[in-house]
Amino acid sequence: MEHQLDQIDSEARRELEASAGDSQKLQALSVKYLGRKGVLTQFLRSIASLPPEARPGAGQRANAIKQRLAADLAAAVEALAMSGRGATPPIDVSLPGRALVCGALHPITQISGEICDIFSRLGFDIVEGPEVEKDYYNFEALNIPPNHPARDMQDTFFVSEAVVLRTHTSPLQIRTMEKQPPPVRIIAPGKVFRCDSDQTHTPMFHQVEGLLVDENVSFGDLKGTLTAFVHQMFDEQTRLRFRPSFFPFTEPSAEVDILCVICRGQGCRVCKQTGWLEILGSGMVHPAVFENVGYDATRYTGFAFGMGVERIAMLKYGIDDLRKFFENDLRFLSQF
Ligand code: DAH
Repeated sequence: MEHQLDQIDSEARRELEASAGDSQKLQALSVKYLGRKGVLTQFLRSIASLPPEARPGAGQRANAIKQRLAADLAAAVEALAMSGRGATPPIDVSLPGRALVCGALHPITQISGEICDIFSRLGFDIVEGPEVEKDYYNFEALNIPPNHPARDMQDTFFVSEAVVLRTHTSPLQIRTMEKQPPPVRIIAPGKVFRCDSDQTHTPMFHQVEGLLVDENVSFGDLKGTLTAFVHQMFDEQTRLRFRPSFFPFTEPSAEVDILCVICRGQGCRVCKQTGWLEILGSGMVHPAVFENVGYDATRYTGFAFGMGVERIAMLKYGIDDLRKFFENDLRFLSQF
């Protein structure tokens, strides 16, 4: 009996020494000797079958070995932890914390919101409508006849013969006027789709459409409103010019250019040496459009305009490739 305990004791010490630097081995050792089916536990249980006079001595000895082994094991685990190699390294409260990564609005969302804010302050209401749109709203009601080039297969994504992915946010003009009598003062932000892809075109992009209808609305109101917008969007020094153009749903129509924000009119790569940058289309609402929604074209006049959000963002931030907005590269996006 004595001999057996001596053997357990010396074997345990030897194994403890060999396991000192390894938390898994220490754990295994604890199970092997002190666990429910451990060597010492079994031994203590077997004491009951010894002759009565031998029991006290064997019990005391076994318990002493058990306690010392438990204490040595605990010390070894602690030493390992303090060395930093253990399973639960001590917490170093002096280390700097990990910075939280914080998301932000996409630059296009930011610019679209800025445009809407400016027009909201001018009294315009924000309206939204479907991205999958009827041909009627996207083209027909806007005075774009079936043979108009804007319907060309290369530009328009057709869902069916009568349904398209909207190619502009102008359908919101019709949807709004169908629902309410004049006066109307709305802007409509949203996604639009065109079958086109290169450095300055993506198949999906964003527009903001505007419409104002009332009695006695003149081209002067259009110029004043858009001038106020440009001055707030860019700065008070930004000059505008209104250049005659054509849109089927406005007459007369004008495209608005701003003095190049990069070279201030000197001529550079961005403005293609012209000194001017085109930023939006606009015009006085065509009487045929009023007729389609049942407005009295002899009593009411109105102006409309439409702009690309990406284009405004590119000019404002000096970005030369539209596709950057849609690649979701955080190194690019987090700069805004
Ligand atoms: N819908 C036109 C486009 O996508 C932009 C536009 C031009 C809208 C003139 C208008 C406008 O309301 O009057 O190119």
